[in-house]
Parts: sequence; structure tokens; C-alpha cells
Amino acid sequence: MTAIRVLADPQALAEATARHVVEQAQAAIAARGVFSIALSGGSTPRELHLKLASPPLSDQVEWAHVHVFFGDERFVPPDDPQSNYRMARETLLSRVPIPPENVHRMRGELPPEEAAADYERQLKEFFKDEPPRLDVILLGMGDNGHTASLFPGLTAVHEQQRGVVAEYVAEVGMWRITLTPLVINLAREVIFLVAGAAKADMLHQVLEGPYAPAERPAQIVRPAPGEVVWLVDAAAAAKLSPPPG
Ligand code: 6PG
Repeated sequence: MTAIRVLADPQALAEATARHVVEQAQAAIAARGVFSIALSGGSTPRELHLKLASPPLSDQVEWAHVHVFFGDERFVPPDDPQSNYRMARETLLSRVPIPPENVHRMRGELPPEEAAADYERQLKEFFKDEPPRLDVILLGMGDNGHTASLFPGLTAVHEQQRGVVAEYVAEVGMWRITLTPLVINLAREVIFLVAGAAKADMLHQVLEGPYAPAERPAQIVRPAPGEVVWLVDAAAAAKLSPPPG
């Protein structure tokens, strides 16, 4: 099932997404005693993280029962300005009482294949014999249709064996490590967070255009039986067809 919610602006988008994540955390902890979430990289999640890390919302989550994973990472050390982990640490993880052992970081400082194998092992260690079904996976979308580090024209979007792969992305001039559709489409819920006029064309193509994940990797995200929720701002939604009625 795919739901689309349009919020007025980036602030309203961050607020609505933070509230939604808190609800999902409370429901998962009540049902299973634990909430597992994969964070997204890029710039759009910053505001969301800051809202999650501030009262009243930060007080509504039992952080001791939260496990944080990552959807993708750049091959840089954890203190590098380009590190998704660093962004998450500065805007969320260092501001809430989450036990350090509950933060499952992608090791962008390791050689690519080693880092991918390491993260596959971290997922297995956490989920034990169960399929790695995260409660929530947060994703962004680039104006070229990439999501996590599944880029157009590359192979990771077609991966069917491994849950985590490393791939050189010439477009950004670096290696990236990413969850593959194998893990993404196991999630109970995938939340796409998309803001800004620069994304409007691609959002229209991804949601209303023909299915072509090789060109628009965000289209590969179809969790079953999980759900997809697109939380977008009005600028990003500007080219979507008006809802019926
Ligand atoms: C990354 C991300 C990537 C991101 C999009 C959107 O590591 O860069 O995980 O998939 O979500 O590029 O980025 P913005 O939010 O900065 O537009």
C-alpha cells in the first residue's frame, strides 16, 4: 500500500514525519519490545532528526529499546563531514539516551567489500535467524531518482542475493555502501522524505510515470506486505496530479 501526504513546507514535513516515527516506535515497542529503524543520509533528514531529538517528542520514545541502522553510507571515516553517521550523530544520536551498542553503523572507513560484508553480518547478528525486517526504513530521493545509494544505471538496484552491497558511483565520484531492495522491501514500513522544487519532476515520474527502476531506482521500493509512505512538501508535490474528488 502506498500513501502520499503533502505538507506545506519543510518545517511542517519534518514535524509530521517526526510525529509519525514516534507513533511507529511506540507501536513496535508495545508489540515486540524493540523498534528498529534505518536512517537516511543527505540533507533533508536533518530537521526531522532535530525534532525527534527535542522535547516533547524525544520524551515520548523509550530510547533504550530503539536500534538504529543506516540505509546507506559514503566511504569516509565516521568523523568526515560527508559521513551520514556523523550527520545522524550530530543531529540525533548524541542528543537522546540511546545506548551506544544500539547504534549499528556502516563502517565507511573499511575497504568497500569488507564494509558490505561487515554490515550484512551486523544485520544477521541483530535479527538472528529471522529475515532482516526493519520496522521503519527512512529514505530520501535524489532529483535523478536514486534512493539510499541505489543509483540509476548501476547494478545495486537489481541485487537479489545480498542485503548490503558496495558500489562505485561515478556520478558522485566515490564508493557507496547501501541496503539493497532485498532488505528494503522486507521493511514493515518505508518512509520517503522528499522536499523542494528540484525534486518535483522526478517525484512525478517516480509516482506517476512508467515502472523503470533501472532509470528511477526509487521505484524499486515496494515492500510486501509492508507499506510505503511518501511524506513530501508542497514544492516537491507541485507536479503530481491532483487527487480525485
Ligand atoms: C545519501 C542518501 C541519499 C539521499 C538523497 C537525497 O547518502 O546521500 O542516502 O539517498 O537521501 O541523495 O538527498 P537530499 O536529502 O540531500 O536531497
